[in-house]
Amino acid sequence: MSKVTVVGAGNVGATCANVLVCNQIADEVVLLDIKEGVSEGKAMDIMQTANILGLNTRLRGVTNDYAATENSDVVVITSGIPRKPGMTREELIGVNAGIVKSVVESVLAHSPNAIIVCVSNPMDTMTYLIHKVTGLPKNRIIGMGGALDSARFKYFLSLALGANANEVEGIVIGGHGDTTMIPLKRFAAYRGIPVSTLISGAQLDKVAADTMVGGATLTKLLGTSAWYAPGAAAAQVVGAVLGDQKKLISCSALLDGEYGEKDLCIGVPCILGRNGIEKIVEFDLNAEEKALFAASAAAVHKTNAALA
Ligand code: LAC
Repeated sequence: MSKVTVVGAGNVGATCANVLVCNQIADEVVLLDIKEGVSEGKAMDIMQTANILGLNTRLRGVTNDYAATENSDVVVITSGIPRKPGMTREELIGVNAGIVKSVVESVLAHSPNAIIVCVSNPMDTMTYLIHKVTGLPKNRIIGMGGALDSARFKYFLSLALGANANEVEGIVIGGHGDTTMIPLKRFAAYRGIPVSTLISGAQLDKVAADTMVGGATLTKLLGTSAWYAPGAAAAQVVGAVLGDQKKLISCSALLDGEYGEKDLCIGVPCILGRNGIEKIVEFDLNAEEKALFAASAAAVHKTNAALA
């Protein structure tokens, strides 16, 4: 029996719950929100697809009832306000820090052994805040930004290549911010063929630039923050943990010397399994990538300082 709680029944939380149900990633999912009726309504709507789609996962919506989340194996935290057009993720820190702190305390009171997946923005700083507030072992707290950013990178690569997005490989490390994320252009590949041999440097630069503002572009189009890919990326992280998949996914992890950084959470390649972040994969960055990573870490440290 596997149980997942998703806190926050906004667009991202509800989409995450929907993907968890549709892909039957857990046996039981609880969707919790502070707004009366919203999580109940979204859960009911999603469960009414179960017969149509032949699904066995059970989803229940609750209003602020943390007792219902008891003994969750994984808890996804999406709580907080989303950004509006023109806002950066970092501008959300004041409001969201208070919300995330109280949510994670309530979550752990009922699921002391849960793995926590942080989605709330600014994501790297909220992941770091959860470490500070809970003191949990670092493997148990996963920030999902890199999973999303890497998916966007592969999407834009697939457009430039005219390829199926499933056949494209690429990874984004660094912070989950418009100027801090680092799409690793050097390693992007199309079924093992380096992308740099298939499209021009200028095209690859544009792919990387589009990836970095991927969230902002959608916020402008939609009037609020995106949800389909963010929700699916969070569900992908949950699936890797619950299924003990040992998958390499870029996630925000607490660093302790890896990539030359410590005391911050930032996107790095992680092996995800039943124990959460089971390993941080380190490899040699070139001089340019190292400089980008150091600058990204400095920016994330600066945002973290606003927590104090
Ligand atoms: C985005 C938000 C969820 O990147 O951070 O769409």
